[in-house]
Amino acid sequence: MYGDAWNDMSSEYDNCVENNPNHVISNFINQEIKIISNLFKKFIKPDKNYIVIDLGSGTGRVLFSLQNIFGNSLSYCGLDASESMIQLSKTKQSKLNLQNISFQNYDVTNTKIDELFDDDSIKIPICVYNTIGVIPIQKREQFFENMKKLAGNEGFVLLSAFNGDDFAFASPQIYHPMKSMVKQIDADSFDEEKLAFRNSLGYYSQWFKKTQLQAFLKSEINPIPIKVFINDVPHVLGHVFVDRFIEN
Ligand SMILES: C[S@@+](CC[C@H](N)C(=O)[O-])C[C@H]1O[C@@H](n2cnc3c(N)ncnc32)[C@H](O)[C@@H]1O
Repeated sequence: MYGDAWNDMSSEYDNCVENNPNHVISNFINQEIKIISNLFKKFIKPDKNYIVIDLGSGTGRVLFSLQNIFGNSLSYCGLDASESMIQLSKTKQSKLNLQNISFQNYDVTNTKIDELFDDDSIKIPICVYNTIGVIPIQKREQFFENMKKLAGNEGFVLLSAFNGDDFAFASPQIYHPMKSMVKQIDADSFDEEKLAFRNSLGYYSQWFKKTQLQAFLKSEINPIPIKVFINDVPHVLGHVFVDRFIEN
């Protein structure tokens, strides 16, 4: 079934992402959450109901971080095609005893995604940590249509992705510390022509240039850079994009 590829990687996911001791990964995800939560703080009005929908939520790390910051003032829903990722998210959720988060095994390219939500909360669809890069090319257009459809006029779409404009430098910085999850890094894993990380076990993650992602989102808004210091030099390893202007 679609999503099975990630079942094999799920047990190493938290070790390689939220609990990774490597400073590039830990600084990257801390910056990413800081930028996302600042955008939410600007957007959220106290008299309205919101649900954050994480498309390709993995083990739930982004929703747990947001719940830690915003508590019960928001609701949260994680959708992931891998049943193992969903099970790990649910185990974490029950340990934390959180009621206002739900997780569901779901293909986020399904054309009926809006039917999952029947209340009138404002929806904020998010897709984080280059998950867009593992959505198959033939489903990409539907994926963006789904994000837009969920956000409607009242929400907004948020996308966080690795920096394809600096693929040659940034990709080894990100994948080497995640080797136990991707399992293999080959001599030709960093494909600078295609802007893709891939290996002979079948893992493939596409990176995109800033202008490509703006075009997919139909947005000219400049993304917010995710900057990480490496050897005392700041490097933009990713960006957080939104599809509309967020007022203060
Ligand atoms: C790189 S991980 C990112 C997880 C999470 N967004 C994070 O930031 O930690 C990508 C996730 O997307 C999920 N995924 C890939 N294609 C999907 C699809 N079509 N529908 C739902 N989930 C999908 C995978 O199962 C995996 O958990």
